[in-house]
Amino acid sequence: MATRETEFPAIIEGSGDLAAFLQENRAQVEARLASAGTVLFRGFDVPDAFAFDAAIEAYGAPGFTYEDSLSNAVRTNVTPRVFTANEAPPQTEIYLHHEMAQTPIYPSALFFYCEIAPEAGGATPLCRSDWVFARLEQDAPAFAARAEAEGVRYTNVMPGEDDAGSGQGRSWRSTLSVADKAGAEARLSDLGYSWEWLEGSGLRVTTRTLPAVRSVGDGRKSFFNQLIAAFRGWSDSRNDPNRAITFGDGTPIGPEDMADAIRIADELTYDLAWQAGDVALVDNYMVMHGRRPFEGRRRVLASLVS
Ligand code: FE2
Repeated sequence: MATRETEFPAIIEGSGDLAAFLQENRAQVEARLASAGTVLFRGFDVPDAFAFDAAIEAYGAPGFTYEDSLSNAVRTNVTPRVFTANEAPPQTEIYLHHEMAQTPIYPSALFFYCEIAPEAGGATPLCRSDWVFARLEQDAPAFAARAEAEGVRYTNVMPGEDDAGSGQGRSWRSTLSVADKAGAEARLSDLGYSWEWLEGSGLRVTTRTLPAVRSVGDGRKSFFNQLIAAFRGWSDSRNDPNRAITFGDGTPIGPEDMADAIRIADELTYDLAWQAGDVALVDNYMVMHGRRPFEGRRRVLASLVS
């Protein structure tokens, strides 16, 4: 059983071509990913997005495309499988989350690549969700049990057009891959979501009940959800965090419920301070990630594994 003392993240320092290393050492990398939840590759020669793409190709895991996802973030593709991690402004903190856990369609893992390291700030916080849930079961047993038993629902408002000024700014047309309102309603109906059209072209959407806790092997469970990011971060001109999350029965999840989860996650967070050329592989079921605010240029690219 993993403990707080377990190596996290695993760091593999090397040199030369990362693609060649991954092709030859996939089994070793998978084993370290399974035990640590995150593997950082440092010192390899990864000069640009194309070298990053080649490394992912060499690793051989199946891709998960941004177009197919229901992600709320505005992103730009650099290669078919590599995209900008989030276009939100530098001063915006992206809070801890499991990628797309607020939807029924999520990747199993993510690759990150630092092309340009920021001058100040800009770390990627990483947090073991299995450790968070184990602590929650001790410190907040009623909340942990209810979240696990009932699951959770998320509500957010999407704009009609992409709003890169918000971490939640992806338009409903892009999020749902539809051209018009009729298409949006058909897609939401298929997903089992409820919705409400707002004045202007905004769309308020509530998910069906989604799991808040996931088994990650060896009897461990992870706090696999988007609760922290939604509660702390789904705030913009359209979104009120106090309306963003409920238990499966529709009861709001409020500050008193979230305080323990936030405190525990903050205590367990490791800040990955990027160096140019770093690549990290993150198990999306076991580890939450986010983005610290930063100054200066920062270019961190991502790729999803289905
Ligand atoms: Fe993310």
